[in-house]
Amino acid sequence: MKIIILAGGGGSRLFPLSRTCYPKQFLNIGNEQSLLVQTVQRFLPLVKPEDIVVITNQGYLHHVKAELAACQAEAAHIVLEPVGRNTAPAIALAVRYCLDELKLDSDEVLLVTPSDHIVQGSKSFIETVRKAAGLAAAGKLVTFGIKPDKPETGYGYIQAGSACQGGYVVQAFQEKPDRATAEKYLAAGNYFWNSGMFAFSIDCIMQELASYQPEIAELAAGGYAGLLADFAALPNISIDYAVAEKSNNVVTVPLTSYWNDIGSWDAIYEVLDKDEQGNAVHGDCMPVDCSNTLMLGRSRLIAGIGLEDLLVVETDDVILVAKKGESQKVKALVEKLRQQG
Ligand code: GDD
Ligand code: MG
Repeated sequence: MKIIILAGGGGSRLFPLSRTCYPKQFLNIGNEQSLLVQTVQRFLPLVKPEDIVVITNQGYLHHVKAELAACQAEAAHIVLEPVGRNTAPAIALAVRYCLDELKLDSDEVLLVTPSDHIVQGSKSFIETVRKAAGLAAAGKLVTFGIKPDKPETGYGYIQAGSACQGGYVVQAFQEKPDRATAEKYLAAGNYFWNSGMFAFSIDCIMQELASYQPEIAELAAGGYAGLLADFAALPNISIDYAVAEKSNNVVTVPLTSYWNDIGSWDAIYEVLDKDEQGNAVHGDCMPVDCSNTLMLGRSRLIAGIGLEDLLVVETDDVILVAKKGESQKVKALVEKLRQQG
């Protein structure tokens, strides 16, 4: 088994800390190590560093090298995309790299993982990955299902059907439903969130791409060098929309380890240590009569009086102040800033 780590996302939801030039996977949040280092380390009980392929954007090469060195995993391979085309093209390129540069057989199992999550509970995580690898070796496209506890609209939803070798046959996969649909799925009880990890054999993913993304499959047929040369011509689409929603070969294995994609400041507040008043305070901060507030300072003192349910994030050039529960709107804010140039 080889591990493919996706580390090329731009990550706008943790603005102003996460920027296009320094996205979330390279940040350390409530931990001494970056999320990318934590991801690498999560798989080291299973594989050697040379069995890991990190795929990222050219612009992030220096970050990736530094992070791999930080966890003594310099032997991991790095594949560089000339431009970002989202996860379906990134996965196609990584697969071609495995076939053409690493000379892997087409029945080799690949485990694809995001690099910007927190996962705890190594033992059950490893057991689940092993189970998934078995299903992938049997030709299945394996997802990892997380039991949902709220109608989150930022995730993919997996409808579980009949039991299948320790997992479930997936009846339907829907990426990022609207709020009403997410509420319906949560109430139904037989849905999981998609964790963002996938396991499949090279044969399986090539076949799925040929069936549902002929444009990508056609360019991928040109081999690693050809795909790299034509990369900018690929459609910008995630693997979830490109394949998972369309395939009828998907199964899911429930992942019971603690999982958090910390995709918002609200989610970060949840994972950080808090004082007795529920304040999560990092950096140079002085909360007076504050409660349930996140204060994250980088360079200047944050002084707050009587604040409640606020998220305050200070960086050199931006101070974000948001109401707790509203931090998903950061994405819209970043979009607005981009439009203004
Ligand atoms: N190499 C590369 N190139 N990596 C990328 C690219 C790209 O163009 N775009 C995104 N990534 C990486 C990100 O850095 C992250 O580690 C991972 O791929 C997933 O991308 P996100 O952009 O964070 O996806 P998402 O959070 O909106 O949705 C996915 O994850 C959810 C769980 O967190 C989907 O798989 C959802 O179904 C899932 O619920
Ligand atoms: Mg994500």
